Amino acid sequence: MKITFVTSNIDKVKEINQLVNDDIKITQKNIDYPEIQANIEKVARKGVNWCYEKLTEPLFIEDSGLFIKSLNNFPGPFSSYVFDKIGNKGILDLLANEENRSAYFLSIIAYKDKNHLKLFKGKTEGEIGKERRGKHGFGYDPVFIPKSSNKTFGEMDREEKNNYSHRKKAFKKFSKFLSSKNI
Ligand code: IMP
Repeated sequence: MKITFVTSNIDKVKEINQLVNDDIKITQKNIDYPEIQANIEKVARKGVNWCYEKLTEPLFIEDSGLFIKSLNNFPGPFSSYVFDKIGNKGILDLLANEENRSAYFLSIIAYKDKNHLKLFKGKTEGEIGKERRGKHGFGYDPVFIPKSSNKTFGEMDREEKNNYSHRKKAFKKFSKFLSSKNI
């Protein structure tokens, strides 16, 4: 089975490729689809429809975000913009005097073919550390510590991150769907 993953993020492709078995062949295509300002489910739904109109082949996209509870779930759908503007240092500064450091990552995989439009969700609870740690991964990985670990995602290699990852949880549901439908 061949599926296109529309993304510009090579780290996401590597994480997902680690999860697929031999009968799924994922091809990356980098199309700059519009990301509306809304919750990430809506962003993913719009994005996958837009990509499908362009490519008309079975494809998926993945949208994710970091939600920090003491900041009213900020940056959430603005995670990408906020990361580009203030980075992990900016996040640590915002939380400088904050005791409650709870946060979660959400991943939405949106799949579309001619018969289906499906969303699959994965959530990982954790907290924001007090400093940046680790050189692995991307984005907010060096400041996010998943529950039941004391390492940041940045201190984990890809395999270890996938034991906790929001993306892995979403992908597991997606691959179950793919095998049940025999697409
Ligand atoms: P997007 O889904 O590519 O728009 O990502 C939103 C933002 O969250 C980007 O800044 C990503 O770098 C960040 N992000 C998404 N997933 C992860 C992750 O697994 N670890 C760290 N940062 C992430």
